Amino acid sequence: KKIITIVGARPQIIKAAAISRAIRNSFSSDLEEVILHTGQHYDEKMSGDFFSELEIPKPLYNLQVRSSLQGGQTGKMLEGIEEILLKEKPDALLVYGDTNSTIAGALAAVKLHVPVIHIEAGLRSYKKFMPEEINRIVTDHSSTLLFSPTQAGIDNLSNEGFDVNYRGEFSADKPGVFHCGDIMLDNSLYFSSKTDGVALEKFDLEKNKYFLVTIHRPQNTDNTERLASILNTLMSIADEEDCMMVLPLHPRTNKVLTEHYPELWSDLLESPSVRVIPPASYLEMMDMERNAWFIATDSGGVQKEAYFFNKPSLILRSETEWVEICNDNNALLVDADPDKIYNGVNWMKNEMNTTFAPYFGDGKAGEFIVGKIIEFLKGV
Ligand code: UD1
Ligand code: UDP
Repeated sequence: KKIITIVGARPQIIKAAAISRAIRNSFSSDLEEVILHTGQHYDEKMSGDFFSELEIPKPLYNLQVRSSLQGGQTGKMLEGIEEILLKEKPDALLVYGDTNSTIAGALAAVKLHVPVIHIEAGLRSYKKFMPEEINRIVTDHSSTLLFSPTQAGIDNLSNEGFDVNYRGEFSADKPGVFHCGDIMLDNSLYFSSKTDGVALEKFDLEKNKYFLVTIHRPQNTDNTERLASILNTLMSIADEEDCMMVLPLHPRTNKVLTEHYPELWSDLLESPSVRVIPPASYLEMMDMERNAWFIATDSGGVQKEAYFFNKPSLILRSETEWVEICNDNNALLVDADPDKIYNGVNWMKNEMNTTFAPYFGDGKAGEFIVGKIIEFLKGV
């Protein structure tokens, strides 16, 4: 049996490491995985480097769609993926998360009657201005196997009419929904022993004497006031708290800062308490996350990783799909509001919950998912 796995954006390449590893470890000679890279991310530091660092099999196909307006980008992917599906005739197609590569893969496959497997199903922000929200809804409703990392994801799917307890024969009309834990935790646990010190030394950082910042959501990068408000407030906190602010820069944010905000950009580069670095490797990122005082981010993956490493996070958004971590007072939604971001420092020092419940499983989500896929493919 053959599955095609779609990757495109950085987090999907990272997630693919967990499933490819579980497929290798399953010793199932009956399951072949073909990786198709859409080319949505293409800089070496956003794509190529992860394949070697995380021991991911090289993609057999790369559509090289690169960046453009979302319609054009998704359209090119749809056309390219369809062609490959017709040629490869896989038994199923696997997609991760909520990017344009995810929706393109799901749409191309479901219309050719190729069963879609969605990993990270059921997450919702209930904000349709986010491109990811549309991508998730369409992908979930095109899928035959839906794997949700959290109970909140299962509840969302149930509210949308999915029969989450159905265990008959699965199809696009009668999908199977599973609560499986988070494959990003699988990776964090698997790779954490290899990370010790790789970034602290390289970027000259001292444990707990810096905070880590990542920003790439359009609602933050494409809005002058929000981006400036977040970065200026965090820079002041670094000065006042006498610690470093480390900013591995997503290319989207890099482009906006250098092209549109030259003053803010030079402030960042010149501040002695700010370290702007290129996108970090996964192991560097793990090292920086687990040794940071706290993490401020609008990334979905990074807020979870903060939680995995029992670190507080300030979420630079007004809502999150990972509701458990805020409901439990382990993370704080601060949006782009200077008062809320400042208040976050007090919150960390005095009010936050320092116990982190195991909402994301036991690090064996990949094994569970691959087991269910093998079982499903026996019947098709
Ligand atoms: C995409 C996903 C987002 C995910 C993020 C992970 C969608 C709609 N968005 O956002 O959900 O959280 O990836 O990082 O799919 N660029 C480069 N080099 C690259 C890649 C991008 O320079 O290798 C620049 C280009 O200027 C491009 C911009 O970044 O226009 C945005 O890239 P794009 O893939 O469209 O969206 P992301 O913001 O990366
Ligand atoms: N990441 C990385 N280097 C960086 C920033 C993030 O390796 O400079 C990793 C991070 O550890 C996590 C994943 O990329 O595993 C999250 O991806 P991203 O923030 O791009 O997207 P999101 O999760 O928001 O979709």
